[in-house]
Amino acid sequence: MLRRYYLIRRNLSTWNGWWEKVGPAPSDPTFGITDAFLGDPSPNKINLGVGAYRDDQGKPVVLQCVRDAAAKISGSEFMEYLPIGGSLTLVEECVKASIWGEIRCHTGEKVCWSPSSFWHSHHSIWREAGVPQRTFHYYHPECKGLDFPALMDDVKNAPNRSVFLLHACAHNPTGVDPSEEQWKEISYQFKVRNHFPFFDMAYQGFASGNLDRDAQAIRIFLEDGHLIGCAQSFAKNMGLYGQRVGCLSVLCKDENQAIAVKSQLQQIARPMYSNPPVYGALLVSTILSNPDLKSLWVKEMKGMVDRITRMRTALRENLEKRGSLNWEHITNQIGMFCYSGLTPEQVDQLTRNFHIYMTRDGRISMAGVNTHNVDYLANSIHEVMKSKEEASEEEGKESWLRAGRRPRESDRTGLSISRRSASGVDGDEAELRPGRTGTVQQNGCMKREKTKTKKKKKRWISAHDFMGS
Ligand SMILES: Cc1ncc(COP(=O)(O)O)c(C=O)c1O
Repeated sequence: MLRRYYLIRRNLSTWNGWWEKVGPAPSDPTFGITDAFLGDPSPNKINLGVGAYRDDQGKPVVLQCVRDAAAKISGSEFMEYLPIGGSLTLVEECVKASIWGEIRCHTGEKVCWSPSSFWHSHHSIWREAGVPQRTFHYYHPECKGLDFPALMDDVKNAPNRSVFLLHACAHNPTGVDPSEEQWKEISYQFKVRNHFPFFDMAYQGFASGNLDRDAQAIRIFLEDGHLIGCAQSFAKNMGLYGQRVGCLSVLCKDENQAIAVKSQLQQIARPMYSNPPVYGALLVSTILSNPDLKSLWVKEMKGMVDRITRMRTALRENLEKRGSLNWEHITNQIGMFCYSGLTPEQVDQLTRNFHIYMTRDGRISMAGVNTHNVDYLANSIHEVMKSKEEASEEEGKESWLRAGRRPRESDRTGLSISRRSASGVDGDEAELRPGRTGTVQQNGCMKREKTKTKKKKKRWISAHDFMGS
């Protein structure tokens, strides 16, 4: 009997079709670039895709304050599971003096409003959480600044009690933040509409080099009495990328409701990741709770920001000395990224012909620029722009011939790098919206002039429209 069973077992073929219908997923827009970069044998290659700090030699950096904290905790601390809610010391340090209390019972639309120029993962997160999304106007591609009037229109027109995702500072990908006055206006309008502000603060310190200044938006909302949500990350400002350390805070009205909200958050965390990794939490809490390490951290962070700022100036100067285009936005924008205005096709050309890697929306991670590659980078961008400029001049000449007249000086429009062709993540903003032209002021487009074009009907965009583009 047993022998027969073994014979049958051996002769039965197994079904191997489990994964037959599984096709390859599209590569991640940022990590896919790193994979391509690593596979490129060119000695000139530059990775401007990933938002991770590099020193002037292009090397990753471990901050001295982190090394010191690691030495302090070495061997002495425990490696047990953290509570589901994470390290209490870390939480306390992150939200010093915050008041826990009642979370607002949100009865408005279950929709999250995000900036129209966005960090891909935000949309993936809301999508996976089953939260419908809408976008509010943010970046104005013509003036390469904030489209404040359109942003305010969207805030005013959103249904009362809407949830808005706001970048506390150093907006990714545009490097464009509202000014202090604009934050105040936004906060006021949020009060009028009873909207809920959820802040993503992944770059505190990376915008201005000053932790307090970079938290000004949050302070304004707190002073105005809002209940807020805030997600902090220490990936960038402490260089703890792979340690996955951050902090989620929800400001509530009283203690009872804080307890309720916290327990609900723990309920969500338990099946997702059980409890957070301990080592990064130990590093951060050690640095934040030790005055010497904290001031060393602040100094080192300022050093990173200053190097990036110098590279912005160097890239702009290098580009401007090669051609006539205006590259002012490189130094106007802040934080880790420069929203260059390069089109997806131009980015492709940079990669193909010059081994320069960046996301197809033209976002340059300034952390990857250094004194050794800035000249090569500027020259490559210039070459790519030049070929487009020549092509458009040729096109222009042909149309002058067709029109039967000689070219006038006013026909020489030059190449506006701000004229993004539609595609990439900025598809929605590829052209100036009908009915609006912007006049650049310090912090974006403040004035609007009406154009004669017919106003297009507003279209709400779902995350799906953008993904994989
Ligand atoms: C806007 C924004 N939010 C959040 C994060 C989260 O960073 P991490 O998951 O590494 O903590 C990033 C990182 O790139 C970011 O750019």
